[in-house]
Amino acid sequence: MDLAGAVAVVTGAARGIGRGTAVMLAEAGAAAVVLVDVKAEQLTESAALVKAAGAEPVISVADVASLDELRRVFAEVDSRFGRLDVLFNNAGIGEGATDWPGVAPERAAAIVDVNLRGVVLGTQLALEPMRRSGGGVVVNTSSGAAHAPLPPQAVYAATKAGVVHFTKSCAPLAETHGVRVNCVCPGLVETQLLLQDTGGGKIPAWLQPLVDSVELLAPEDIGRVVLDFIADDSKIAEIVTVENRER
Ligand SMILES: NC(=O)c1ccc[n+]([C@@H]2O[C@H](COP(=O)([O-])OP(=O)(O)OC[C@H]3O[C@@H](n4cnc5c(N)ncnc54)[C@H](O)[C@@H]3O)[C@@H](O)[C@H]2O)c1
Repeated sequence: MDLAGAVAVVTGAARGIGRGTAVMLAEAGAAAVVLVDVKAEQLTESAALVKAAGAEPVISVADVASLDELRRVFAEVDSRFGRLDVLFNNAGIGEGATDWPGVAPERAAAIVDVNLRGVVLGTQLALEPMRRSGGGVVVNTSSGAAHAPLPPQAVYAATKAGVVHFTKSCAPLAETHGVRVNCVCPGLVETQLLLQDTGGGKIPAWLQPLVDSVELLAPEDIGRVVLDFIADDSKIAEIVTVENRER
């Protein structure tokens, strides 16, 4: 797909991989990038960067775990632009300061709701507007944690494995709706996610040795995979893992 003139929606766009990719979509020619996140203030900074990169930014403060709020996002996109070409389902959270199984049940439920429910509902709501636009591309953010057990982050890992499996099951949508769904599995990326909401701004003890053993990726390393999925019309239900280099 040619990004020129495209309308893209990016979730988790207030910082990290979402922000970096939103800027890259703008640089690559998207006409508008709709920035979805729960962090209103940081979305304003992302919007300024997207504007400077050449696309119209639209701030949409919404929780991807809420069907009502997601419906509002897509309704706004429809009334404003009348088309939708790209959806980057990227918002995600981990266990936080307390590892599995000590994580509060409310937090465990939120991980499932943001990481899996948000991806499923976002994809579903994007299908009809993309079909009307002549087709589109959905890219889901999973994780390297999808491929192997990760006991301290059992809930996170399960949701990310679910995102991989969901993506594979979406292969027929290319035929039925003209929508190609693909999935990127980042290794460790230098973002605030690594701090796991520990409050003290420190990487949790179980994660520190892993972080020390590799070269961290940059958000742009993931953004390049997203742009490649969009550009290459042959990519359908593909899962691309971005590995860290060992130190
Ligand atoms: N950083 C890594 O090492 C790494 C590795 C593998 C996968 N990932 C995945 O990459 C994605 C982006 O993470 P990141 O590293 O940029 O982390 P990040 O914490 O910097 O960014 C995540 C963004 O998602 C937003 N978000 C959280 N809950 C939300 C909700 N309910 N609705 C809307 N927005 C919400 C946050 O506010 C934040 O801006 C996540 O899905 C994460 O699981 C990250």
